[in-house]
This record gives sequence, structure tokens and C-alpha cells, in this order.
Amino acid sequence: MNRPADIRYLFEPRSVAVLGASADRSKIGYRLVENIVRGGYAGKLYPVNPKGGELLGQKVWRSLDEVADEIDMAVIAVPAKGTYQAVEQCARHGVKHVPIITSGFSEMGNAEEEHRIVRLAREHGMRVLGPNIFGVFSAKSSLNATFGPPGIQHGSVAIVTQSGALGIAMIGKTAVENIGLSAIVSVGNKADIDESDLLTYLMADEQTRIVLMYIEGVQHGERLVATLKQAAIKKPVVVVKSGRSKRGAIAAASHTGSLAGSDEVFDAIMRQCGVMRGESLEEAFNWCKFLAAAPTPRGENTVIVTNGGGIGVLATDASEKYGVKLYDDARLLKETFGSVTPDFGSTKNPVDLTGQAGPQQYDAALAAALASEHIDATLALYCETAIFDAQNLAGMIRSNADAYRKGGKPIVFSTLGGEMTESCIGVLRKESVPVFGEVYQAVSCLGALYRQRRHIAEYSDAVDEADIDIGLVEKAVASARAAGRTFMLPRESRELMRAIGVAMPQNAVAHNLDEAVKAAETIGYPVVMKIVSPEIIHKSDAGGVALDLENKEEVIDAYQAINVNARRYKPDARIEGVEVSQMLVRTTETIVGARQDKAFGPTVMFGLGGIYVEVMKDVAFRAAPLSRKEAQLMVKEIRSYPLLLGVRGEKRKDIEAVVDTILKLATLVRRCRAVSDIELNPLVVYDHGQGVKALDVRVLLSSSLSSND
Ligand code: ACO
Repeated sequence: MNRPADIRYLFEPRSVAVLGASADRSKIGYRLVENIVRGGYAGKLYPVNPKGGELLGQKVWRSLDEVADEIDMAVIAVPAKGTYQAVEQCARHGVKHVPIITSGFSEMGNAEEEHRIVRLAREHGMRVLGPNIFGVFSAKSSLNATFGPPGIQHGSVAIVTQSGALGIAMIGKTAVENIGLSAIVSVGNKADIDESDLLTYLMADEQTRIVLMYIEGVQHGERLVATLKQAAIKKPVVVVKSGRSKRGAIAAASHTGSLAGSDEVFDAIMRQCGVMRGESLEEAFNWCKFLAAAPTPRGENTVIVTNGGGIGVLATDASEKYGVKLYDDARLLKETFGSVTPDFGSTKNPVDLTGQAGPQQYDAALAAALASEHIDATLALYCETAIFDAQNLAGMIRSNADAYRKGGKPIVFSTLGGEMTESCIGVLRKESVPVFGEVYQAVSCLGALYRQRRHIAEYSDAVDEADIDIGLVEKAVASARAAGRTFMLPRESRELMRAIGVAMPQNAVAHNLDEAVKAAETIGYPVVMKIVSPEIIHKSDAGGVALDLENKEEVIDAYQAINVNARRYKPDARIEGVEVSQMLVRTTETIVGARQDKAFGPTVMFGLGGIYVEVMKDVAFRAAPLSRKEAQLMVKEIRSYPLLLGVRGEKRKDIEAVVDTILKLATLVRRCRAVSDIELNPLVVYDHGQGVKALDVRVLLSSSLSSND
């Protein structure tokens, strides 16, 4: 097994071969060679085809075996049945990267052949891109090794796409939008090279100012999270992911599982990494174009300048939605805009120049905002009026955009009107002036700029691991495993809670009526009783739970009823006894869960708990490991957070103990991969300083792993 080739050579190959180069203009093999030659690739090109000859002024080699030179990249465009042999040829030659254009592998069920190719490549230290891709473009090498459109504009946006067709369409879109690319890479089936490999290069590449990724599915999520965290502090990373629909949600045995619909988890983890997820491709493109050129704002004080009240209110709504902070110091706003606003206008934010404003009034107001040391960015809105002829619009926008660029302050324009206004937008966008027809799009761009700024300012790579007794954890896991179970019995869950330091109500398991009464009297009334049986997981459904038992008589009745109900529910169930436990005062009920997510590995969940958890869906997710600060943010993120702060004169709840519990579960599922799902529901939160208690704990184990895999 050789060391894997450096990913740099995928973007900066000194020599490129095309296997399947063809003189037939209708074939992909022709288009690849044409794009490489016409794109101005400065390295050495080796078209390969058994027929030999010449193609586009290049000698065609009959086989790679004829080539004496070292080859950094060999693009494969031969049919699927000949691909393995072509890769063998590359391996013999010591090629570093093999982008495989060819389709017909795992995407249509032929995973075995794909694995065989990757195995072969790995043995020789070769990296495989794809298969099932449209290729790679790298501005640094002037290399267009794709069968997409020619003449890709060079610039600072890098695109990584899992969909080939969408990628080719994106190249077209970037041309229309005048967005220059530093790279575009199609990852296809991601048999070997994935987004993390590419990000490693792109985050260090000086030419790339922003990375746009189109993702359909995540495979090595833990690695991706670590890479994204690093990348997003170096440059903005924008992602578009398909699959927001609920169909992807996992039907699991726990709340955590069913609440952790893959899209919610993806969304939360992208935020955790500081990655901005676009609602649509259009939004993502808008962000890329804007962020690639916008100056970094010094602060977040934003001012809206408008000639219409209605559009000003729309912009105010949009600002709230996208977290754009509107500057509201009335005195300073009056001082700044008083002299440029008519008496019947408004100097409050939005600054309303009124329908009477012409280009001069806009120039004066925008210049005042640019000159103010209290204003960090401007949102300029225009509604077409007879006073301000749209013919003069482009000039006003262009000159102010220029002044702001030189002044190092961001500005975004949104204009609304008829044909003239629309065509003005088209012309200015071609010139990369940030102007939008829809006010929400304009504000969304500013919001993205601030989010990126905030992320960098608040970023910390701290990880807070909790102090858990891993030996005891493994003992509890081993006990369940030895009995051939993939879930824990209450006593094992209790052991597990002891191992990670989460308190549970006082309890005892009674094997007969006398023991039940004795246990209740020792614990103190009121008590709760629950059936203990490995075959009865949903105890309430079985009538196996009795709450709030106040005295001996109630305990006796409940003991008998529980046993009868359980027998009726499942006559062959093994009944190991009845658990008697302290009945707690139930105050704020939360849920803390953790699981091994299919895509991202260890993840944690926090939310409002109790029986309504799945109805309310008021939950937050994060990937583990995480810092205390991230866990705190997670708690603050849920809609019901005010309940923890105390409502209607209640005391503040013990939020720190909740945060501790989240960190404990995060540490548990990271250090013990055999725990596939764990859920504390409800986790009752007491007043500040009085801690939390887990009333019910559900633990599922993976069926195949050893306890610490
Ligand atoms: N070395 C060099 N050349 C070879 C070899 C080899 N080992 N084997 C065959 N060739 C030559 C062939 O002789 C042929 O040359 P010719 O035109 O002179 O006869 C050339 O390679 C191409 O082979 P063909 O059999 O003609 O194959 P064709 O070009 O029709 O298809 C392709 C090959 C394009 C790889 C096809 O199999 C394929 O997978 N197409 C789909 C590609 C795709 O869509 N990828 C995903 C992109 S993303 C998206 O969806 C847009």
C-alpha cells in the first residue's frame, strides 16, 4: 500500500492524460481533450486511444505504457467494462489522480466493481475522483478537464458538486451571473475522494475566496465536520443540500431517532460548523457573488435608505429574518441624515427620502451613511417613481457602489419597478454590482456577511469532554450484550447513569408484595411503580406504570394491578419484579438524547421533553464533540428556552446542570460507540443550583460493535 497522492496534484497537475480521447466530436473523450487544449492548460497533455494518430494538434498515444513522462492526472472516459483495465494502466504508470468520468457503477447498483477499482488505486497510492463525474476545472492550472462548457471564467469561487448535471448547469449560471471560478469539481459517487479532501486544498488555496458545495448525501460525516470547522473560519463555505423532505427521516425506536430526521441534523451541524446553507441554488449563488466581493464590515450597524415606506417595512421584516441589526440611535441618525432628508421624510431607520427623492438625494444620503463612523453597512432601496427616472438609476447605483467599494463599506441595492428598472438590474449584475429585484434577496446577502463575521469572531476549537467512568460504562454494556440484548434493562441503565454521573430518583426493585411495601416506606411517599421485564419496553402501554402512590394500600393495589396488566399484555413475558421509586415533583421537563447518526456519527439532542416531545419538535442538535459554549447555545436555541429562565415569577432553572448532562451524553456516545441511542426523557430540571434528575432512561446498543468500537 503506497502513501496516498497529495490532493494538490488534482488541482495543479503538471501532466494530464485522457484515456478514451476520441476524434469523434460527439464523444465525451473528444470534448475533454478540446476543453483542455482550448482552455490553455500549460502542463503536458497526453491523449490516449488505441488507434493513435493526432487530435487537435496533439499526438495521440496508443497506451499510457508508451509515455515516458510522469503523469499526475489521468482522466478516464472509457466505458465501464474497460475502466478497471484503464485504471490498471494508470497504476502501472504511477499516476497520482484518476478522475473517472464513466457512469455505470454504484449509482446503478454496481458497487462491487467500484470497490475493486478503489482497492486497486489505493494499493498504488492513487486517488480516485468519482466515478460518474463531469470532471475537474482548476483556474490555477488553466485546466478545464471537464466535458462541460468551454471558456469558464476565472475567479475566486470554488464549486464542489455531487450532481454532475447540476454542476454543468452551474457553470452556465456562473457565466450568466459573471461569477468567476477558481475551481469546479464533480465528486459523483465519492468512491474515494470526497468533500473533505477537496476542502483541505481549497481552504488553503489563495485564489479561492469562497466555497460552494452541492451535497446530496454525507458519508464520512465526522471527518467532514472537522474539516468544515477549519474551513469556515478561513473563508465562507456555502452549502446547498437536497432532501429537506421528511422521507429521509429515520424511523427509529427512540424519540431522538425519530426527531433526528437527517435534514434537521444536517442543518444544525452545518450551523455548528459555521457553514451557510442556502435555501435554494439562487440564494447560494447570490451569497457567493456578494461575499466574494464585499468588504468585511467593521460592525453590524446597518441603515436602510429608501424612497418608499412600504419597501422599507419589507426590508425591516427581512432584516429580522436574516439577523441584520438595524442601527437605531435616533439622535445620531438625525445628525447624519437630517440635512439630506425632506421635512416630511424620516431620519429614523429606514431613512425615508420619500417619493420625491431623485439621484442627488440618494447620492447625498448614501454618502452620509458612507462617511458615518457609526454605520457599518447600507441597504439602498428604490421604487420606480416619475421623479426619479429609471434611466438615471444605473448611474446612481454604479457610482455609489464604487464609492462604497473604495471606502471599504458594504452596500446592497434593491430596486423595484418596470421594464427599465429590470433591465438596469440585468446590466448591473453583469458588472457584479450587488443589486437585486427582491428585497429579501438583498437582505439575505447582508445577513450572510454578518453571519460569517460573527462566526469568525466567536469561533473556538475548544472541546469539553465530561469526566465519565468508561470502565463502568463498558461493564453495563457488556451485561446487556452477554444476555444477547440490544437494549439495557433499567438496572443497567441506572449503572450507566452512575458511570456518567447523572442522578436518577431513589429506587429499589421488589420481587414480592412485602418487598414493594418495604421499599416504598424506605424511599418515602409518594412513590412510582413500574414493571421490570425485558420483553416489555413500552411500560405505560402495557399498564405497567402507576404514579403518585400515597400510602401502603395504594402500593398494594398498584403492585397487583401492574402484574395482572403485564401478564395480560404479554402472557409469556419474563417479569423480573416491580421497580419502586421516588415520585418527584415534576417541574420543567426536558429531553437529552445522543446517538450514532448514520451520516455524522456521535450527535446530541436537547429539547423540551415529556410526552409532547414529538408533537412540539422543539429540539436542537449538534455533532459531538462539542464545547460547553456550544452546549449552552444548544439550550438557548429551543423555542421553550424562556421556561428554563423561569416564567411568571418562577425561579431560573439549573441550566448549567442541563449543559453538563448534554456534555456527559456527548462524551458517552463518542467514547462508547456501542451505545447507539440514549435518551433521558424526561430530564427534570430543578431550580438553579439544585440539579437535574433523569426520570426515565432508554438505552439502545448497536448489534454488531464491541463496546468501544
Ligand atoms: N484506453 C484508451 N482509449 C480507450 C480505451 C482505453 N483503455 N478503451 C476504449 N478506448 C477508446 C475507444 O476506442 C473510443 O475511441 P474511438 O472513438 O476512437 O473509437 C473511446 O475510448 C471512447 O470509447 P467508446 O466505447 O466510444 O465510449 P463512449 O465515448 O461512447 O462512452 C463514456 C464512454 C463517455 C465514458 C460512457 O461510458 C459514459 O460513462 N458516459 C456517461 C458519462 C457521464 O454522464 N458521467 C457523469 C457526468 S455527470 C452528468 O450527469 C452530466
